[in-house]
Amino acid sequence: MRKAIYPGSFDPVTKGHLDIIKRSSEIVEHLIVAVLDNPRKQAVFSLEERVEMLERSTTSFKNVTVDYFKGLLIDYAKLHKIGIIIKGLRAISDFEFEFQMALVNRKLNPGIETLFLMTNSKYSYLSSSIVKEIASFGGDICDLVPPEVYEIVRDKYCK
Ligand code: PNS
Repeated sequence: MRKAIYPGSFDPVTKGHLDIIKRSSEIVEHLIVAVLDNPRKQAVFSLEERVEMLERSTTSFKNVTVDYFKGLLIDYAKLHKIGIIIKGLRAISDFEFEFQMALVNRKLNPGIETLFLMTNSKYSYLSSSIVKEIASFGGDICDLVPPEVYEIVRDKYCK
């Protein structure tokens, strides 16, 4: 079975992420969206919240599951017999870092390929940081995040 992983912080999931999830789920047989549990990176949303937001947003995709991981992505992929890492690219500015990551991951395990999907141009400006910035100043994020998580994100900043 062609299994792929789409890793990220998803703090929070955006419509740009969801577009990559939808398109990659149409290419592979099983897509695992995996949230990095990184104690060194301060997230606004807890790991549980990020996983829940992804689960709520992906219920309509029957071949998509949500999980989380600690440590190296490549170790998780090997353990779960995943052969493909999916990454989204928005702009040239993403490329340099993602290129380095892809080469590091290939060095660590040459049997796992990284596939890049270009963002939908509608979402090329969109990032989790932009969503948090707008929400923190009370701006409308309705068009930026999946409807299933809109209230969770908005309420985080309305307390
Ligand atoms: O959404 P993000 O924060 O851009 O996602 C980054 C992520 C989680 C994909 C990346 O940091 C990652 O894979 N981290 C796990 C540790 C790892 O395997 N690093 C690569 C080798 S140094």
